[in-house]
Amino acid sequence: METLKAILTRRSIRKYSEKNIPEEYYEVLLKAAMHAPSARNRQPWHFIIISDREVLNKLATVSPSWKMLEIAASAIVVCGDLNLEDSESFIIQDCSAATQNILLAAHELGLGSVWLGVHPREDRLKPLVAILRIPGNILPVSMVSVGKPDEDREQPDRYNIERIHQDGW
Ligand SMILES: Cc1cc2nc3c(=O)[nH]c(=O)nc-3n(C[C@H](O)[C@H](O)[C@H](O)COP(=O)(O)O)c2cc1C
Repeated sequence: METLKAILTRRSIRKYSEKNIPEEYYEVLLKAAMHAPSARNRQPWHFIIISDREVLNKLATVSPSWKMLEIAASAIVVCGDLNLEDSESFIIQDCSAATQNILLAAHELGLGSVWLGVHPREDRLKPLVAILRIPGNILPVSMVSVGKPDEDREQPDRYNIERIHQDGW
C-alpha cells in the first residue's frame, strides 16, 4: 500500500473476529515502531506484547474505553525508558510516533487496530503498571489493540483549510 493511501484510509477498528493473527506480524509491527523518529535519536522505547487472554481481560476492565481488549487478538503497550531519555516530554512524542507507525503497519497488513490512551491518565496508568509489573523507570505512553477486523470504516475527509496558516498566524 502506498504510504499516503495508508494514512488516508486508516481508521480505529474496535471490532475483531475471533481469529488469531500470524506470529510473524509482530516483528513487522515492531520494526515499523522502531523506525519512528525520536528526539536525539535516543529510540527510548520498549514494547510489551500481550496475547494472554487472561491478561487482556484484566486490562479490559481498567477502562470502558479499553473494552475491545476482550475480543482483541493482542495488544501492544508502548513504553518509554527514562534511563534512556530523561525528558518525559520527548518520551511521549517519541512513543507517539512509534504508536502511529504501528497503526499504519497494522493497516498495511490488513489488521484492525486502535490507539488506547494510557499517559497521562492515572486511573489507567496505575492498574496497567500493576497488572504488567512495569518497573519505575518505564513510562507506559499508549497501548494498541490489534485483531482481525470485523468492521469496515470509511475515512471521512478531514482536510480543513481553516486550520492552515501561511507565513505566520
Ligand atoms: C492519545 C489517544 C488516546 C486514545 N484513546 C482511546 C481509547 O482509550 N479508547 C478508544 O477506543 N480509542 C482511543 N483513541 C482513538 C481515537 O478515539 C480515534 O483515533 C479518533 O476517534 C479518530 O478516529 P480514527 O482513528 O478512526 O481516525 C485514542 C487516540 C489517541 C490519539
